[in-house]
Amino acid sequence: MKRLLLAITIILLMACSIHARTKTTLTKGWKFSRTDNIEAIKQDFDDAHWQSVSVPHDWAIYGPFDINNDPQFVAIEQDGETHASLKPGRTGALPFVGVGWYRLKFDAKDFVAGKKANILFDGAMSNAKVYLNGKEIGYWPYGYNSFHFDITPYLKEKDNLLAVRLENYPESSRWYPGAGLYRNVHLIVTDEVHIPVWGTYLTTPVVEKEYAKVKLFTSVEYPGKAYSRLVLKTVIKDMSGKIVTENNAQLTKTDLNTFEQNFTIKSPSLWTPDTPVLYWAESEIYVDGVLKDTYATRFGIRKLEIIPNKGMLLNGEFLKFKGVCLHHDLGPLGAAVNTSAIRRQLLIMKEMGVNAVRTSHNMPAPELIELCDELGLMVMVETFDEWQTPKMKNGYNIYFNEWAERDLINVLHHFRNNPSVVMWCIGNEVPDQANYEGAKIARWLQDICHREDPTRLVTMGIDQVQNAIKTHSASILDVVGFNYRTHLYKKAYEELPQQILMGSETASTFSSRGTYHFPVERTINRVREDNQSSGYDLDCGSWSNLPEDDFVLHDDYDWCIGEFVWTGFDYLGEPTPYHEVWPNHSSLFGIVDLAGLPKDRYYLYRSHWRPTEETLHILPHWTWPGREGKVTPVFVYTNHPAAELFINGKSQGRISKDLSMTEKETDNEQAARKLKRQKRYRLMWMDVKYEPGAIKVIAYDKDGNAVSEKEVHTAGRPHKIELSADKTVIDANGQDLAFITVKVVDKDGNLCPEASHSVLFEVSGAGTFRAASNGDPTNLEQFHLPRMSLFKGQLVAIVQSDEDTGNIVFEASVKGIGKAKLELNSK
Ligand code: GAL
Repeated sequence: MKRLLLAITIILLMACSIHARTKTTLTKGWKFSRTDNIEAIKQDFDDAHWQSVSVPHDWAIYGPFDINNDPQFVAIEQDGETHASLKPGRTGALPFVGVGWYRLKFDAKDFVAGKKANILFDGAMSNAKVYLNGKEIGYWPYGYNSFHFDITPYLKEKDNLLAVRLENYPESSRWYPGAGLYRNVHLIVTDEVHIPVWGTYLTTPVVEKEYAKVKLFTSVEYPGKAYSRLVLKTVIKDMSGKIVTENNAQLTKTDLNTFEQNFTIKSPSLWTPDTPVLYWAESEIYVDGVLKDTYATRFGIRKLEIIPNKGMLLNGEFLKFKGVCLHHDLGPLGAAVNTSAIRRQLLIMKEMGVNAVRTSHNMPAPELIELCDELGLMVMVETFDEWQTPKMKNGYNIYFNEWAERDLINVLHHFRNNPSVVMWCIGNEVPDQANYEGAKIARWLQDICHREDPTRLVTMGIDQVQNAIKTHSASILDVVGFNYRTHLYKKAYEELPQQILMGSETASTFSSRGTYHFPVERTINRVREDNQSSGYDLDCGSWSNLPEDDFVLHDDYDWCIGEFVWTGFDYLGEPTPYHEVWPNHSSLFGIVDLAGLPKDRYYLYRSHWRPTEETLHILPHWTWPGREGKVTPVFVYTNHPAAELFINGKSQGRISKDLSMTEKETDNEQAARKLKRQKRYRLMWMDVKYEPGAIKVIAYDKDGNAVSEKEVHTAGRPHKIELSADKTVIDANGQDLAFITVKVVDKDGNLCPEASHSVLFEVSGAGTFRAASNGDPTNLEQFHLPRMSLFKGQLVAIVQSDEDTGNIVFEASVKGIGKAKLELNSK
């Protein structure tokens, strides 16, 4: 009897495994070459001399940096330029232009007779031509979008050859795009009765405290007339795996190939940035009682409303976007997707108080959206930086007419079940906004979004405010998003029907970590001799403004629903205001530098966005040999309302935040020059004279009680290396990363703020050295080589796990100073 039961169980298990879908991510065993050779699609082609790589792979991030990589002779009209000039580092000065081929030999053991197969690319940069077993199976030009092809007719169970040709054009981008198969590639094998890629659409039409209604549409593909025998069973599970409700549905003749199922969840736990609660709808398809496919749709329950004049509500509570714009690159890792690196970026942002991300200016990696679901970040998913009218000669304008709808449909279908996604953005500063034809395009794109996903609002990043109002590009949008132009907000609010405004892009402030310039004043487009911008956070672009110019609007007016700061992190390319200056090749806009180290501005945003958490940050550093007796202003970024500053024990006075500096009171040139708005948010001692020693700040609460204090000391000679890791236990999955901050400090542990020593890295045990970055936008050292110089005393080195468990030893050494070791554990 026992044997019989065992045999039955085995047969049942086999039946299940035959019918279950399989999704295999094709990461290992790829071959890569930069030579353009169509013969590479042939099985007998000799790729022995090609480079062995794993995917995700960004072929260009290894450099070297070169002034001749995509030098652009252009005028940047968006920044107000009227004459073309040479912009050498605009796309990062990395070798992304040209052709690259990837080849992968693989078996598809699940692909037995009667099966269906799809290949899904999360993104391929760019102009992907995909060949399987010698046949061209598809083409997708836009490098940021996900796309998939049905490969059933071409796939074999054994000895398949997948070949992908990618080509990036010069003058196709305004920033570093990355190159190659920089996102994951998946093989999906299903039964011929199956749910297609992105085949479910789940909405929550009613969200109340007591109950929520869930509506699930499931598409099914099947041969012949099987529909009358199809049954879809779906259970909804909560985060503990408990079934909270279920539903069985049968396809009827009128449904053709879409099931509709409705559910009620009692006392639902709602998704918010603070409580990112998720649910799963787990579906099974049966034909005559036989399981054919399974599919899980992860979702959250939340309701976002925007009320004219009043503001934005999430689940009935007012909130504003405390958002950042993020480019897709991961600094020293380039565009190659890595979950651990994205998670670190998002956690650093959340710690600052961020509740929203804008994926500027293109479709994000699925890993980013999944992490935003899990960590609690609202996302504005952006799609295009160009429509018909070019910003770049070879930009998206060359594809727009033919591909825009297809591109939009893919991103909408891909991410319309994700609770983090709260808004679609159809364009960033597209020049078309300024003409009537452009308004029609805006309407067309918004209509596609509404057709595919009636539940989400649509926006666009407008920079030509007056033109967009005139042509109605602005008035047709669900939500008006302005890029900068804070001085036009009030007028636009009065003229536009929406009676709501969002800062879709704000506060392009330039700064370099740990770098300060004198005299301290508000500057516009300032190019400084050291090719760096000032950490006093008063340098900004002529088209832009400082952080406080946005704070006052969103604090003083309900109809301002929040902002997305340009940018959370520095990114590769666009070294404004040093476009014309070599070797600048990465941005200075970031609140956090390219290495992931916070600049001073981080604490300004944190103090404002997390008012109940303590922030007490002093700038600048206090090691200024040669500045003795010179005016060296001190700024304090704090959530506390007042503070007193002491230099070597002598009080420099107590300052309170000046709350009388309302938007209205300060809406003029003179107020800007006198930093009146800054006085509401920063504590600034402008006349302090430098003397070496200690600066101390004591913070007071609103009743005048001393609540906290902090000191910064003049550093002595470089004495030792200090190491700290974002985590010391990592996953032995061959992909997890630890980010190790390397600092040079004096004998008392004070950071040596001008240390620029070269550091050598060695990694042994169950991991490898992956890359390093020091956050200096002028640094030409290659990220992947195990040596890098410190910038302003610091850098970050990245260690990657192997697939073996065990200890990893990271060692950093500096000539004349010594060595430091840090041990990680890979599990
Ligand atoms: C905006 C643009 C961004 C970036 C930024 C720099 O106009 O949307 O992509 O270029 O300016 O300030």
